[in-house]
Amino acid sequence: MLNCVASLQEALFSLHPAGFTRKDSTLKTQLVCLIMVVPESQGELYHPPPDLQRDAHVPDFSSYVGMYKKSLENPEAFWKEVADEFFWKKPATGPMLQYNFDVTKGNIFVKCMEGAKTNMCYNVLDRHVREGNLGEKVAYYWEGNSPEHHTTITYGQMLSSVCRCANVLKRMGVRKGDRVSIYLPMIPELVYTMLACARIGAVHSVVFAGFSSDSLCERIMDAQSSVLVTADGVYRGDKLINLKQISDEALEKSREKGSSSISKCLVIKHQALRMKTGASCNKLQTPWDSERDEWWDEAMSDSSEDCEPEWLDAEDPLFILYTSGSTGKPKGVVHTVAGYLLYTFLTFKCVFDYHHDDVYWCTADIGWITGHSYITYGPLANGATSVLFEGIPVHPHVGRFWEIIEKYKVTKFYTAPTAIRLLMKYGQEPLQKYDLSSLRILGTVGEPINPEAWLWYYKTVGQSRCPVVDTFWQTETGGHVLTPLPAATPLKPGSATFPFFGVEPTILNEHGEEVEGEAEGYLVFRKPWPGIMRTVYENHERFENTYFKKFPGFYVTGDGARRDKDGYFWITGRIDDMLNVSGHLLSTAEVEAALTLHSAVSEAAVVSRPHQVKGECLYCFVTLKDSWEFDKKTVAELKTLVREKIGPIATPDFIQNAPALPKTRSGKIMRRILRQIARNEKDLGDLSTLADPKVVEVLFSQRSKAAA
Ligand code: WTA
Repeated sequence: MLNCVASLQEALFSLHPAGFTRKDSTLKTQLVCLIMVVPESQGELYHPPPDLQRDAHVPDFSSYVGMYKKSLENPEAFWKEVADEFFWKKPATGPMLQYNFDVTKGNIFVKCMEGAKTNMCYNVLDRHVREGNLGEKVAYYWEGNSPEHHTTITYGQMLSSVCRCANVLKRMGVRKGDRVSIYLPMIPELVYTMLACARIGAVHSVVFAGFSSDSLCERIMDAQSSVLVTADGVYRGDKLINLKQISDEALEKSREKGSSSISKCLVIKHQALRMKTGASCNKLQTPWDSERDEWWDEAMSDSSEDCEPEWLDAEDPLFILYTSGSTGKPKGVVHTVAGYLLYTFLTFKCVFDYHHDDVYWCTADIGWITGHSYITYGPLANGATSVLFEGIPVHPHVGRFWEIIEKYKVTKFYTAPTAIRLLMKYGQEPLQKYDLSSLRILGTVGEPINPEAWLWYYKTVGQSRCPVVDTFWQTETGGHVLTPLPAATPLKPGSATFPFFGVEPTILNEHGEEVEGEAEGYLVFRKPWPGIMRTVYENHERFENTYFKKFPGFYVTGDGARRDKDGYFWITGRIDDMLNVSGHLLSTAEVEAALTLHSAVSEAAVVSRPHQVKGECLYCFVTLKDSWEFDKKTVAELKTLVREKIGPIATPDFIQNAPALPKTRSGKIMRRILRQIARNEKDLGDLSTLADPKVVEVLFSQRSKAAA
């Protein structure tokens, strides 16, 4: 400990306090906090294990401080060193980063390595196979929904499949800049298709395969994709999902809306699913349009393995990924080639302290950003071996995760707090059956992790020898922005700790003023890092309005944060109209819009309520039209409607009858009050702004009848 403090002090003194300008104040505050108070917190800190520190990329806290300082003071040199790892067809002519973060000074923009030409697919595959001799190295251990189904894919095999897929897409008319929608389960072909797009300069738009046909339709229409890649179906646990049928419904809906951009649909025959015998397989529906649809196997069998990569500009788009927006309409977050490559590469390498012989497993679905950055691009950019898992944590038994860790000798494991809380419920017994001694580092992402779950993860899963990296980030940030580094950062359960390299966080109060020291408020970032989003697809105005208007000069995350006396950041949750259910962001407006589609509903308001496993769940207040009765049938219909419109992740947990909603005199619904009613908090504070305070009593009296 003393050593740690001494080296921190050295780092502080090397900072030349006199050299700090006003702009550097966050960095200064940050470092001063870090260095001064670490010893006081001894009791609650979890220190990095010395054996991990021995050959770590960032081996101790003072190395972190030094690198962090360099990343902010000399971003040019810092990122140039990272870029030197990769292949550039043409070098950059501009600086590593250019930007404007201040709406009052003109359009918001971020550019990384202007003038450079490269290709993402070349850098994550060809470079390893051709230059790094990794052709035989395993890229993925694919583990199916059922433990009987698994395969191994090497970098060499993957390059060949990706090139063939790229040629299929080209034959289907896909050109540089065209969008390809991908609606696939967690099978290797999902990664092949993403990289095939990247190879030919097409922009992929992956849609999570748990979304409904309406959600898929909306995302295809917004992106105006020309090709859809899907599968016949998939089992998630015991449940069969007819992906092709859902895809056809989505395409039919887009036709009805007069916007059918898809000319070709490539369909993967899910082999494992076909092997499944018994009645359930007969439920598989594969509607077919012979003009439009092609089977993947047939298309791939006569496709060439030669495909020259398309050399793209550093700032050409790599992909679009939709994320919930507070207006209800999802936003197409756009990430570009060079910056995303540098950032996912470096965060993966440092946050999981990647080494060549690691077996890494991230349990997320590639349909979300975590899968894009930390199953596909980050690990592949490093030449890593990963597990690609199709199933769910409790199928066919509650020890499935632990069984997989033992089977592949997983060294780095990354999952969500919701999964941890779910597995905690089954106690230690399922873990004791398996050998988890291969584990070195544990990670979490997606939502705040409660200290109880953190400690269970650390002690029971990691046997008190694996640091837990609680990584805070967003679809928009492209990669981790607040995160511990496993060999460097003393941990506090529940805190995402400190910023990653190049990231300068600060906390603002309601008036947009920076608050220093111990404080709570809006979490914002002062400047970009290479992996931050560039725009909302085809809607730059929405990009500026959403993230940059509220506090000019800053990127606004939409999350609240607290900085403690030691400078550690604690995310306090969303402070906009968004909910985080099992780590998935949903907008209240989106769910309200689905509820009001029901002919019985005149008005709906949705708030979050804490949930033991999911973190938050949906509590919906509905006001029915006069002649309707609030009964079980209506509640069931409302739940089905939300599932159909958005997907099963948005299924309401509670629906309560609300003869009226609490509103201000100007008619604004007071969600704070609804949240308190949902939580049964009787002390509601000041109700004077309500048009009719009696509404509150009525809602409390109806509360016990809320249908779960
Ligand atoms: C939340 C997921 C606390 C946060 C990568 C953020 C977290 C939203 C954490 C983004 C964490 C993510 N601690 N909250 N470690 N990680 N969040 O776009 O509210 O699906 O704004 O990206 O998840 O969700 P998204």
